[in-house]
Amino acid sequence: MQPTSIDLLIHGAAELATSIGTKARGGKLLGEIRVLRDAAVAIRGETIVEVGPQAELRRRYTAKRELDARGGTLVPGFVDAHTHPVFTTTREDEFELRTRGATYIDIAAAGGGILSTSRGVRAASVEQLAQRLGVHLERFAALGTTTVEAKTGYGLSLDSELKCLQAIASARREHALDVVPTFLGAHDFPLEYRERKADYVQLVIEEMLPEVAQSKLAEYCDVFTEGIAFSLDDSRRILQRARALGLGLRLHVDQLTPLGGAELAAELGAASADHLEHVSERGIEALRDANVVPVLCPLVPLFLRQEREAPARRMIDAGLAVAISTDFNPGSCYLQSMPEVMSWAALRSRMSAAECLTAATLNAACSLGRGARTGTLEAGKRADVLVLDLPNHKHLVYELGRNPVRDVVCAGRVLARSQRGDDQARTTASALQP
Ligand code: NIG
Ligand code: FE
Repeated sequence: MQPTSIDLLIHGAAELATSIGTKARGGKLLGEIRVLRDAAVAIRGETIVEVGPQAELRRRYTAKRELDARGGTLVPGFVDAHTHPVFTTTREDEFELRTRGATYIDIAAAGGGILSTSRGVRAASVEQLAQRLGVHLERFAALGTTTVEAKTGYGLSLDSELKCLQAIASARREHALDVVPTFLGAHDFPLEYRERKADYVQLVIEEMLPEVAQSKLAEYCDVFTEGIAFSLDDSRRILQRARALGLGLRLHVDQLTPLGGAELAAELGAASADHLEHVSERGIEALRDANVVPVLCPLVPLFLRQEREAPARRMIDAGLAVAISTDFNPGSCYLQSMPEVMSWAALRSRMSAAECLTAATLNAACSLGRGARTGTLEAGKRADVLVLDLPNHKHLVYELGRNPVRDVVCAGRVLARSQRGDDQARTTASALQP
């Protein structure tokens, strides 16, 4: 039989590790992944044609281009399902205040927090926001993230929230990554509405949401449901309107206090319920029964110096299809690395490397309505593939503090190698083999 022509063959991998299927995997299935030795991936256009033993794929295909994995490991591109990347200023002073004992809530009450970032965003143009966002997207890609959710939420007025959505749309056109836009107008009450919060909720419901829906610039609507932010009732009203206007739903819930936000996410049939440090047993059951994906942010409690962490193990044992994310933002987690998040999920939540991989790829993709499109290395999926400078997938959680991503293939395109200095410091995976 004549070999079939393809565009790209990724070969020379010691290992290929991937979750399986198009549906979020909970309980025992979370850790059941496929691991192949000496594997290759055949790609045509944007799509994976076949994954299998290298020798077989070489016989079956002739490739226009080859990518040598040099004894490394192939995994699906990471999916970061919770980030706040549209901002212009950073908050390192707040970080330092917390190391001296201030809490996130104290800092927000003193006028810092979300409102401090909002001042910078309101003053910036769409072009400035898009340019900064582009820098963040490049770093996401260099760290192996090929699909990233991007929230607004520092505009906090109709104009500035739309400006953030336009910046996301513009950066998205310029970059290879799949960027999923989320409207988070209900992130905080802006200063001018602090004494009339009900009016801001009305503004979100009556003015912002219809404009956002009409603009078609957002896929999801999120709300920060929290004692210092939006109540359960306000959140419910905002999200019901969003749903009626055709937006998918995501929620920040039970992060700083136990408010019963997980139960609300379940009641509304949300795509995801995020954070969950203070989730109750009833909340866990409700999420499971409603098939809501819990999107955890394992590094946020560390960054905020909070004792309480999400009960990931209990959720997994209850059968939930947990996802993990960075929550990248200037306040509660200034970090973009999914490998780092995976290490912390392993160390703090006792998740296996395989569980972390599914949580950082397939389950996160499913929470974004993209389970059929990405999140695994299987025929028919979009060719989002990472070549890791690691001898096997277990090194993904075992090694901290180094970017293990050597090559990034996003929708079938090999992204240009970054010029970061740490390229030189890398040891090839093959040199690490016993
Ligand atoms: O997910 N909790 C609310 N929002 C962000 C923090 C945003 C900020 O502090 O700027 C979070 O942690
Ligand atoms: Fe967040």
